[in-house]
Amino acid sequence: MKFFIDTANLAQIKEAQDLGVLDGVTTNPTLMAKEGIKGKENIINHYRAICDIVDGDVSAEVISTDFNGMVKEGEELAALHPQIVVKVPMIKEGVKAIRYFSGKGIRTNCTLVFSAGQALLAAKAGASYVSPFIGRLDDVSVDGMELISDIRLIYDNYGFETEILAASIRHPMHIIQSAKLGADVATCPLSAITALLNHPLTDKGLAQFLADAAK
Ligand code: E4P
Repeated sequence: MKFFIDTANLAQIKEAQDLGVLDGVTTNPTLMAKEGIKGKENIINHYRAICDIVDGDVSAEVISTDFNGMVKEGEELAALHPQIVVKVPMIKEGVKAIRYFSGKGIRTNCTLVFSAGQALLAAKAGASYVSPFIGRLDDVSVDGMELISDIRLIYDNYGFETEILAASIRHPMHIIQSAKLGADVATCPLSAITALLNHPLTDKGLAQFLADAAK
């Protein structure tokens, strides 16, 4: 399974990259705003800075909601860097835009996916990635993991090549469960990735080994 980091924070992206397990980055307008990145030029420069840190795919989201606007924005974003994947919301105009981008060889990440039907549409339109938001489903008492399992089954039934990018991950168990269910990618906050490191028996065992080595 690939690990993406879900942030626009350059220090966190660098830390995950330095850990040696990072395959890409996802951003969204909320994450960009959180870093105080405003204005077209600053946004473009920030995407370039992210691409300079990581080797893998970097999702950059359009903010238009009409077909023509999404196409214009998406083409500009895709032209920035070969690592850019255009993130498009799961709405009717978004599905049309994904089909258009697919025909032009521009890679897409269909975002804000909350049902298997939406994931099926995204794959049929030719999305490179589909982003089911598992944490936000859990927040409203719907099992996000069941959605990952349903999408995996549907994509495997028909051989869709769209990669399942488990998004809105809140904690390390979301990563483990996504991996067990066959999600292709998990995009996670840095805290969820580093939480995978921890086990009290590792700490206890290491303390014992170091104590014995000092004898
Ligand atoms: C990733 O592509 C999504 O934008 C992100 O995972 C959403 O996460 P949130 O529900 O924590 O905002």
